[in-house]
Parts: sequence; structure tokens; C-alpha cells
Amino acid sequence: MDDFIAAYLAEGALPKSKGGGAPDAPPQERMVAASRNTAFYNAHSYHTKVPPEAIRPFIEHFTKPGDVVLDPFCGSGMTGVAVAMTGRRAILNDLSTAAAHLSFNHTRACDGVALADAFERVAQDVAEDFQRYYATRDETGKPATIRWTLWSTRHACPTCETEFLLWDTVDRKSGRLTRGTTCPECEYRADRGKFSVRGKEPAHIAFAREDGSRGERPATKQDRRDAARLAKEEDSAPFPDVALESDREMYQRCALHLQGVRAVRDMYTDRNRLALARLWQAVLADPDERMRAALAFAFTNTAWHGTKMRRFNARGGHRPLTGTLYVPQLSAEVNVLHVMKRKIGQLRSYYRAFTPTTENPPHIMCGSATALTGVSDNSVDYIFTDPPFGSNIFYADCNLIWEAWLGRVTDQAEEAVVNRSLAVSRGGKSLEDYGRLMAQSLNEMARVLKPGGWATVVFHNTDKAVWRALSEAATAAGFEFHEAASLDRKQQSHKGYKGRGGKENVAHFDVVMNLRKPTLANSASPAKRAGFDLVRMVAEVSAEPAFGNRGAQGVHAEIMRRLMSAGQTEFPDFQDVRKVLERAVA
Ligand SMILES: C[S@@+](CC[C@H](N)C(=O)[O-])C[C@H]1O[C@@H](n2cnc3c(N)ncnc32)[C@H](O)[C@@H]1O
Repeated sequence: MDDFIAAYLAEGALPKSKGGGAPDAPPQERMVAASRNTAFYNAHSYHTKVPPEAIRPFIEHFTKPGDVVLDPFCGSGMTGVAVAMTGRRAILNDLSTAAAHLSFNHTRACDGVALADAFERVAQDVAEDFQRYYATRDETGKPATIRWTLWSTRHACPTCETEFLLWDTVDRKSGRLTRGTTCPECEYRADRGKFSVRGKEPAHIAFAREDGSRGERPATKQDRRDAARLAKEEDSAPFPDVALESDREMYQRCALHLQGVRAVRDMYTDRNRLALARLWQAVLADPDERMRAALAFAFTNTAWHGTKMRRFNARGGHRPLTGTLYVPQLSAEVNVLHVMKRKIGQLRSYYRAFTPTTENPPHIMCGSATALTGVSDNSVDYIFTDPPFGSNIFYADCNLIWEAWLGRVTDQAEEAVVNRSLAVSRGGKSLEDYGRLMAQSLNEMARVLKPGGWATVVFHNTDKAVWRALSEAATAAGFEFHEAASLDRKQQSHKGYKGRGGKENVAHFDVVMNLRKPTLANSASPAKRAGFDLVRMVAEVSAEPAFGNRGAQGVHAEIMRRLMSAGQTEFPDFQDVRKVLERAVA
């Protein structure tokens, strides 16, 4: 496989600040809202994105045109987008190869018409093979092309031993799966786990007829034979040979052993494995470097939608869950050429909306935030960043699907995460290890930031110990805490699976901390105060109309915001806040 990332990193020298001067206080705004339905948000999926619209006010408040902004945990590069559109210059860093790929493509302009033409060439290149992979018949026996195939688990009844498809027990209108299942033969009803799984097979097919009209029908024996035939077919083009090891946290949380997963290729059906390898081969054949990168940008998103993780939704809009490797029992195996065509359309909207006002696109670095090699001391005007939140999302695991195609996978040893499943030698980490990595990263941030410069850090966690680790790391790095804000992401950070205890709560409101590196003149940090009256704080916050209707998570986030603004060193767990709230209601 080509190492795609090398080309992204080779570009340009580090930007140099033209001076500037930081303001004395953070913005007055205490609540920042993030919208998910914009061209910026939808160009490529990534876990826990902060949209550029939410970042922009901070950039405009804390910097001037020409200033240098750093995001050491840049993810999909949304900070770079906000920076490029406000005439500032950015340095974007992330440990993940996938993040470098997304950041590069999000922050480089691209000619949408040329991209559509390049995609047409790709589509023509793969047409003959794809006709074979996705061939089917409509209800009258005429040739048609598969749009998607619903794969359902087959189960055996523990009492009468009859085998049946889960799909045949589902309410077709809602498509909703309940915990319990009823055997269609003997009507024995029990928790779904009691019906052993005997494999997965095509159950229902959506197709396009030759005249372009659409239809659906139950899968036939021939459809199942076609799927089995593809299983025996040799790879049409090289498929990335990347292991998905069973000691990865996401492997265990998503019980991938039940799906027989050993490698990234097992996350695909045979049809989509063949189709995606062929599509990737055609993408790599584009002679123009920018087009190749932009096609690859549409491809990685497609390759994620093309996995078995794509959850069937009876109301339409099938998609995988973000922030997990969960493979559902009803999955929609999609025609990947159709997905890629749609992604190209979304990218065209994106590049129309992306209007950088600087000639210098962000500088991309792929490495650990603990060592920002090449970035000089006191050289950065402002930092905006959204670091990993402890044990919420395992980026190295979730990004593996994309990185397998890109030819370079994240080094887990440096990932800032609490990961108790992996051996220490493979990147396993305790809360102390996470705290150490965050402390090193905050030290680096303090080193490269100009004296008097600001760092805005988005954060949330339900565990007070994680908050303490972050707060201690920031204090040890010499940062002062100033008035924080709240970010309403209008989404849940991760869905569809639960944490180790089966009760992990998901953040919705994040705290946006404003930290300042002191100058020699103002280096006296505000005194730290330990201790607070939680019952009083919960009563005060929930009595305010703005917070009372945010639910327990919103009340906890506001309490954390107030404590962080005051430079507190002790914090409540989310569960503590919830218990106080429940007691107040009872
Ligand atoms: C919350 S995400 C950032 C998302 C980003 N704000 C966006 O809008 O897409 C945190 C990022 O930190 C990265 N990361 C984890 N450990 C890291 C480390 N030691 N150094 C640099 N990046 C790291 C992950 O790969 C992930 O992309």
C-alpha cells in the first residue's frame, strides 16, 4: 500500500508569527452552540468534531490576521478550517494518520468540477467489475443493480431448534429491534441473547432497474448464492492487510470475537471487500496529486460506510455509529460506488463553502502532542484544542478502518487515553499514564505559546479523577485558569455501546477552558481553593432557567465550568451531581 500521509506532511515550512499581542480577558460569551448540519460538518465523518463556526469567535477574539494558531490534537482539522477562513495561519498536529488525511483535505481548496470529472474517470475504470459485484434481478427477472443488501443474523430457537432470520421477526415499518425475540415457529419469547447465532446472510435487497426506477424485494436463494460466489473470488486489487487485534479496547467493547473479526478485511462483506479494493486502485491511478488526495478523502468516508458497521435503519439513512466499531445484527451492505458519488457531491458543497482568506494553508504534523518537534519556544500566538477525554473514545481503534487504506496506522503507545485492555507494551494505560501524557502535552503547549498567550481547551468527562488529572497538568505547566465557557455540541459524543461498568454517561455539554501562559509581569497565579458545597451548587445551577432544563449532564457541565473558572482543584463526579438532583426531586 502507498504511504499517502508522506505527501501531506512534506508540504510547506512552519508559519512564523507576525507579532500581534493577546487580549487581557477571554470572550464574554458563556455559551457556544455547535451546529451539525453544515457543509463543514458533513464533508467527512470524524468522532467528536467541533465545527469551525464554534471555533471562529475564539480565533477572532484571541488573535489578529497573520497570527499563528496551533491545534496539537487537531482531529479532522476543524480548527485549521476556522483559521484559514479568518486570515490567520495554523499548525495542525495529531497522532493519527487519518486525522492528518482529513486535516489536509479539509484545509486545501479544491476545484469541485475537476473533482467530479476525476470521479467519473474512476467510475468508468471500475464499471465492468462493479457490474458483476452488484448485479441482481428485479421482481420480474430483468437485470438490475443492487443499491443495498440488508444482512440479517440467523438464529436458532433454544426450545424447538427452528432456525429463523432476525429480520423475519422485526416490525418492518419501524425496523426497531427490541431486547426480546419471539420464535416464529413455537412462539417461545426470550432475550435475544438466548437465541444462538448461526451466521449472517442477505435478507432483503434494494435495487435500481435499468430505467433508473427503484425497487425492493426479499433476498432469494440466487442472491445468497451470488454472495457465496464472491466469497471465493480472488481479490481484484490489493486489499490492505491490517490486523484488528483482539486486545484492542474497541474490539472488546464491541465483542468483535462474536463476528470472527481478526483483521480489517473481516469488517467487510466479500462483495464490498472486492469492490473497495478495486475502487481504491482506481483512485490511486489518478495522475494529479490534489485530485488523488481529494478522491481519497471521499474514498475513506465511503470505506467506512461500506463496512458491516453500517446499521440498517428502516426509515432510511443507514450509517455506522461514530466512535465505535460496533457491528449490528441488521446491517446494510451498500453499493460503495453510489456512496462515493454522494460523497463527491458533499465535497463539492464543502469546497464551495470553504473560502480561505490566506495563501498559506495550515501546516500539518503527524505525531504526539507530547513532543511538538520543530515548533520553536514562544512562537505560537494562540492554541485552540479539543484533546481526548480519558476513556470515552479510542481514536486509534476507530481510525483503523481509514488508516488501513492510508497505509500507516496510529502508534497506540503515545495515545492520550485510559486503556486498560491493552498490554502496557502495546499502549495500555492507567489514569496516571493518561495524566502524564496530558501533562507532557500541556508542557509543550506552554513551551511553544508566547508569554501572555491564551490556550482554549475543550473538555468533558463524567469522572472527577480525569478532571483532576487535567487540572493538575495545566497548573503544573504554569497555566492560569480564567473564566470558562460551555459548548453545546448538539450531539452525543459516542453512542451505541456502554462503558466498562455498562453505565458510562455521555457528555453533551463540554467545558471550554481559557488558560493563559503568564508573562514575567503577571506570573502570580490565582490562589487555588480546594473544596466546594455540591448541594448548594446543584441547587443554584438547576434553579437558573438556562441550566435547569439541560438535564443532569448539563448541570454537571455548568458546575465543572464554574469550578474550572475559579481555579478549583477538587471536582464532583457526574454521578454525585445526579444523586443530588435525584434527592432534590424525591
Ligand atoms: C477530541 S479529538 C479532536 C477532534 C477535533 N476537535 C475535530 O474537530 O475533529 C482528539 C484527537 O486527539 C488525538 N490524539 C490522541 N492522543 C494524542 C497524542 N498523544 N498526540 C496528539 N494527538 C493525539 C486523537 O487522534 C484525536 O484525533
